Amino acid sequence: MEMMGGLKILREVEIQTFPDESATLSVLELPQTIPFSVQRVYYISGANKNAVRGKHAHKDLSQVFLATSGSFSLCVHDGASIERVRVVNHGKGYLVPPGVWRILEDWSEDAVCLVLASHTYDESDYINDFNEFLVWKNGKEK
Ligand code: TYD
Repeated sequence: MEMMGGLKILREVEIQTFPDESATLSVLELPQTIPFSVQRVYYISGANKNAVRGKHAHKDLSQVFLATSGSFSLCVHDGASIERVRVVNHGKGYLVPPGVWRILEDWSEDAVCLVLASHTYDESDYINDFNEFLVWKNGKEK
């Protein structure tokens, strides 16, 4: 189900697109659109239709997810509510703030998920257990 109203957990990131007869060019101006400096870029490709990626939260990491090809669903949980968007090629990017559980699923055949991240890879920044995430989150929110 697509979100109809405004987003509460995710934040939309505008991507400019310049299509012409030969190709489509897409642009993300980082200083204007993303409130962190990008320290790492990675991408997920060749995902099976039923692949479920993510399934973790980050304590401090901010990330922007976008599709450079195809589409996939991004489902996030902030400890209280859930939000789901379809991330599509030539569409918007989505900023996932720190402290948010995320799942990437329902991949189209040609999907490529590009991720811009605020920090370099740090295994200790991950929370891989959903119940642990809820305790961490609710503890923090009290
Ligand atoms: P993971 O973050 O679990 O991927 P996803 O969120 O797509 O399910 O990472 C998968 C593997 O890749 C894991 O062994 C850690 C490694 N990895 C790095 O070494 N550096 C990175 O920047 C990322 C994102 C993952």
